[in-house]
Order: sequence, then structure tokens, then C-alpha cells
Amino acid sequence: MNCFSCFASHERKASERCGGRTKGAPLPLPPQRRLQPRAPPQPSPQPRPGPESVPKEAKNNNAPNQEGSKNEALTFTFKELAVATKNFRPECMLGEGGFGRVYKGYLEKTGQIVAVKQLDRNGLQGNREFLVEVLMLSLLHHQNLVNLIGYCADGEQRLLVYEYMQLGSLEDHLLDLPPGRTPLSWLTRMKIALNAAKGLEYLHDKANPPVIYRDLKSSNILLDKDFNAKLSDFGLAKLGPVGDKSYVSTRVMGTYGYCAPEYQRTGQLTLKSDVYSFGVVFLELITGRRAIDNTRKRDEQNLVTWVSCFLFPQLSDLS
Ligand SMILES: Nc1ncnc2c1ncn2[C@@H]1O[C@H](COP(=O)(O)OP(=O)(O)OP(=O)(O)O)[C@@H](O)[C@H]1O
Ligand SMILES: [Mg+2]
Repeated sequence: MNCFSCFASHERKASERCGGRTKGAPLPLPPQRRLQPRAPPQPSPQPRPGPESVPKEAKNNNAPNQEGSKNEALTFTFKELAVATKNFRPECMLGEGGFGRVYKGYLEKTGQIVAVKQLDRNGLQGNREFLVEVLMLSLLHHQNLVNLIGYCADGEQRLLVYEYMQLGSLEDHLLDLPPGRTPLSWLTRMKIALNAAKGLEYLHDKANPPVIYRDLKSSNILLDKDFNAKLSDFGLAKLGPVGDKSYVSTRVMGTYGYCAPEYQRTGQLTLKSDVYSFGVVFLELITGRRAIDNTRKRDEQNLVTWVSCFLFPQLSDLS
């Protein structure tokens, strides 16, 4: 859920993130518009998101969640989460992203199974993303957005506690399947696409002001036991343009292969930037190929370019 990492422990995942699994391939951008490195760890004071960083309200801000309670994020001590995850035992680890490790845990105080994301060292950027994630997910509630149960900001520790999604990420079920594993059915793929589209529609058309997600990709679409899909990782989310403006100017961040080319070129972020990323995920869903795959032949490495040859053959004739 983050951008480049400067920390060695993040190297593998960070390069994937920035290259959409391309292992460090640069974005075709002028240097000032490349995905920004995460700032090195900084001492206090912690940055606070400005008033523009989170929506003042989403339409169903205080709507009850599926369990019937208010969606207010709880605060946890580090000790509580250490107990919940059996001291962050490796056997409890669900996965690892560029931002840190995710563990399965059990919360005694609520009796829930949860996913606990422990952020690695917190640079300024990491802290900002942590705060944006907590504030965004505290205000935005929808059945196709992952539910943030709570967080921990105990000393240097930064942890996020989410509802546990039994089937993990779409990426785990779609791409690089081990031999013998049954691929997702067509119906399930379309259901996941529809769920992701509904989550995006909520962010764009129902949240007020609208929210640009900026990090739509298959690893951020999480699946429950029935393959219901929810969007996760809101650390890069931005408030959309208001008034007459159609874009917000911002640093280019996101993941190679999923980023809209006009946003990469100009730094002008629009709601359509998310729609582009949705299109890339949709292509992944229907082809089973990665957005960027450097193990393939040169002209097949970029999924969008490769698919364009079939959809718009007249363009390749021109080139
Ligand atoms: N709420 C959750 N429930 C169950 N598993 C989860 C949950 N959140 C994350 N995971 C698992 O942890 C893995 C890592 O997630 P994380 O968001 O840290 O990284 P990522 O999305 O793969 O990469 P990036 O850091 O580039 O966004 C996911 O692929 C998924 O398998
Ligand atoms: Mg993620």
C-alpha cells in the first residue's frame, strides 16, 4: 500500500510494486514524475494529514456495518496485538507487502479473527499513508471496501487491524497459479470485477467529496470465503477535484502497469485514473496475465500494449 521503499527489508516487494512485478523496471516518466521514494525514517513530530487529506463525510458515514454496530475504528495497544498474533509468529503471517507484514490474529476483546498489518519503519511517507488509511477507512464504509477494525499507534509502532478476508487477494487466485490448481471460473471473475466496480463507484459517486483510490490492482482486491471482493489499502487515496476542476495535481504514485499513462505523464490525477487501473485489473481477470510480466516475450510484457494489438490492430499496422 505504499510507494518505493528505501529499506533493505522492503527491497523485493518494493521493486515489484514499482514495477508491477517487473523487478525494478522504471516507469517511462521524466525523473521528477517517477514514483517517489519513501522518505527515510524521521523522528517526531509526526505529520498530520491536512484537512484536504480525508473526506469530511461520506454519505453513509455513520451507517451501521453488517454486524449492526457503528464503524468506528478501535485503538489497540501493541501488547494487545502481539497477543492477538501470538507475538507475530511466522506461522501466523498471511503475506507481505511493500509496507510491512500481515498476520492473522484473534482479538480476545471482540472475539474476532482479524488481519493485522504491521508497518515497517515509519518514514514521513509511511506515517502519512498510515494516517490517510485510518482516516479514510474510518469515514468510508461499503460492503466492497475492506473494514478497518482499528489501529495501533503505540510509540514507534504503527499497526492496522482489518477484517480477515479468508481467501486472501485476487492476485493469489489469478496469477502464477501452481500446477494443478483450478483457475477461477468465469462467473467468479465477473463477480469479482462487479464487486470491485461497486467499491469504486462508491468512492467516486457516493462519497462526498469523491475519493480517488490510486492503488487499484489485483493484490489490493481481497476475497472473503465466498469470493466477495473488497478493495483494500487506502494509504494513497486522495480527495477528488471539487468545483470546476477535473483533476488534482499530485506526485505520481501507484504501481507500474496499473497507473493511467496521462497521470504518469502530467501528475494530474482524475477519477478516470482509477478507471484505467480498473481496466488493467479487468484485463488481468479475463486473460490471467499480469499487468507487467518481464518473463514474457518483449512485445507481450505489458498487458495493455499486448491486448491493444488484438483490439486495435489498425494501430499496430500504423506503427
Ligand atoms: N484483511 C486481510 N485479510 C486476509 N489477508 C490479507 C488481508 N490484508 C492483506 N492480506 C494478505 O497479505 C498480503 C500482503 O498485503 P499488503 O497489502 O501488505 O501488500 P500487497 O497489496 O500485496 O502489496 P503492496 O504493498 O504493493 O500494496 C496480501 O496479498 C494478502 O494475501
Ligand atoms: Mg495491499
